[in-house]
Amino acid sequence: MAVRHFLTLEDLSPSELNDLLDHASHLRDTWRQGKTRDSLKNRVLAMIFEKSSTRTRVSFEAGMTQLGGSALFLSPRDTQLGRGEPIEDSARVISSMVSAVMIRTFAHDTAVRFAAASHTPVINALTDDYHPCQLLADMQTYREHRGSIQGGTVTWIGDGNNMCNSYINAAIQFDFQLRIACPTGYEPDSALLAKAGERVTVCPDPGEASRDANLVVTDVWASMGQEQEQQARESAFNGFQVNPELMALADKDALFMHCLPAHRGEEISEGMLEHPSSVVWDEAENRLHAQKALLEFLILGTLD
Ligand code: CP
Ligand code: NVA
Repeated sequence: MAVRHFLTLEDLSPSELNDLLDHASHLRDTWRQGKTRDSLKNRVLAMIFEKSSTRTRVSFEAGMTQLGGSALFLSPRDTQLGRGEPIEDSARVISSMVSAVMIRTFAHDTAVRFAAASHTPVINALTDDYHPCQLLADMQTYREHRGSIQGGTVTWIGDGNNMCNSYINAAIQFDFQLRIACPTGYEPDSALLAKAGERVTVCPDPGEASRDANLVVTDVWASMGQEQEQQARESAFNGFQVNPELMALADKDALFMHCLPAHRGEEISEGMLEHPSSVVWDEAENRLHAQKALLEFLILGTLD
């Protein structure tokens, strides 16, 4: 059977995604009840990080341990990847020794090339273009607080970046309307927008985009690798801040999410993470459980 990878949300069908999220909530509940599980006993996950991380590293590493397996942290500084060993050669070798590989890198094509040469499942743990693992946690968190998002409205405020692109994928896979409010010149990928059709709209006004939304989401103005653009982006994104005034325009039961890390005073106001609508801490914690479900699905091929 062909190896399954998770490079974008499109790699799983809508029903597989929904089953995976059910399983993630089950894993969270049983973990909280103190029940142990060894579904991935003796399995190893290789974790390649070419960019920084707190949540992704801790959640994958803790998740493998909680399922009875282990994880290897591989940075380019300490591996031959950082000295120019071809990605395909690295993929063949690493994947011959482990049950799955997780990669956080710059160009999305690097993850695609790695997966094409890999014998075992490859998980995209963030590229310049997509962050699908975060979407699993976001969708799990929404369901746990409010039920299905199907037919609802999500508002994205800010940069048309990797998270925004993954929200466009999510709008298709989870069947919701997505309104994107971003400054001119910072729109998401146009081919992706065209593919999403009427389900996704782009508008320059954050207030208009947030009206009656069920979920409001934002992210940093300058992503990893764009540090030198910080100043220019601070001017361009002026006014694209999620704050209590903006949330007041959304539905009264609307939730607020942010993948974190956050910049208070930029994309969010000072107290926004503690606003009554905010579920950011559950969202961060659910990275752990959503990814445990993903690892079981990809490595074992089943969700029990
Ligand atoms: N949200 C997220 O991926 O966080 P890290 O960069 O800390 O992994
Ligand atoms: N868009 C951000 C997400 C960080 C989790 C970045 O790529 O840096």
